[in-house]
Amino acid sequence: MASMFETLRAAPPDAILGLSEAFQADPNPEKINLAVGVYKDAAGRTPVLECVKRAERYLLDHETTKTYLGIDGLADYRDLARQLVFGDAVEADRVAMVQTPGGTGGVRVAADFLASHMPATTVWVSNPTWENHINVFSAAGLATHAYRYLDASKTGLDFPAMLEDLETKSRPGDVVLLHACCHNPTGVDLLPDQWRQVAEVLSARGLLPMVDFAYQGFGDGLDKDAEGLRTLLTVCDELVLASSFSKNFGLYSERVGTAAVVTRDAGSAAAAVSQLKRAVRANYSNPPRHGAAIVATVLTDLELTNLWHQELEQMRERIAQTRQRLVEALRGGGADRDFSFLLAQKGMFSYTGLTPMQCDLLRNRYGIYIVGSGRINVAGVTPDNVERLCEAIGQVLG
Ligand code: LMR
Repeated sequence: MASMFETLRAAPPDAILGLSEAFQADPNPEKINLAVGVYKDAAGRTPVLECVKRAERYLLDHETTKTYLGIDGLADYRDLARQLVFGDAVEADRVAMVQTPGGTGGVRVAADFLASHMPATTVWVSNPTWENHINVFSAAGLATHAYRYLDASKTGLDFPAMLEDLETKSRPGDVVLLHACCHNPTGVDLLPDQWRQVAEVLSARGLLPMVDFAYQGFGDGLDKDAEGLRTLLTVCDELVLASSFSKNFGLYSERVGTAAVVTRDAGSAAAAVSQLKRAVRANYSNPPRHGAAIVATVLTDLELTNLWHQELEQMRERIAQTRQRLVEALRGGGADRDFSFLLAQKGMFSYTGLTPMQCDLLRNRYGIYIVGSGRINVAGVTPDNVERLCEAIGQVLG
């Protein structure tokens, strides 16, 4: 019998996680991984937060079963996640929310929901966006198009171009994907008034906003980072959301997130929940418990919540200080380009403006791994690697 797999060709490595695999295999003792978006402390470790450790101890003593969760996950978790993301911006009974395996799971469940309810829609994503967005939407069977986002320097926003694309190229019924804060991969966010203007264009053109909220608390704070999303809801009464606790709780491998649909009334929300559950059941049946139980335990205990806020603030402040340090060290490393734009960018990532060829050079000559788009994970820069990194960047630019 002929082989079924003889003609099979290997898929290209993933643009982000593929680099982590290459990094693991690299024998260079001085290698630096700034590819994947994972927080590291000053010692280069990705710690388990103390609030998480305490919640896990509590769960170990009090958890009584490992039976399946419902298709939509833990009810307490969903209520708390909804409150954290939306605050009082929308009535609870207008939010259809399910627990998902991470933010990526949230994007996929939301994409499946859109593909089944609005199969002819096009999802408009920023150019650039997180590489995996396009994979996920296309795996769900949805078409994507890009709206312009960055200016010619590729380090700041071209807001008029973004608005022009949304106003003139989209069709009513299309979906517009926005990053709530800490835009991935650029770190370039909309200002409050720009959120309002985008909301008005979406509403006037009959476009549905979809918000990816993966970095709440990494920009300016939990509520501040939600302001754009909440502004959208003052103008648009329907919206799709994916959110994540990977970064702000450091629960990467526990896969904790949500998918949500905001509707005009409670009746439509009930229908939306049933459709989200249908998507979940066909994908992975029901979500894992542990990460969601940790989040719910922390957020129902005032002491643990306060501890979480402190730990989150420490992560946010270390990233802000690292941006400052990077700008100084790049100046010292001989780069004659001005990198002060890094200070205006928010969250874990920054676009350095490095070309794919310069990124390859950094990797091949210096064992420094950054995404080919020029995105660096600022949170991976530590006091120990910053000099070497900036000298190498100075060399590849020179
Ligand atoms: C990233 O962008 O590096 C993170 O969101 C991790 C991932 O899954 O790509």
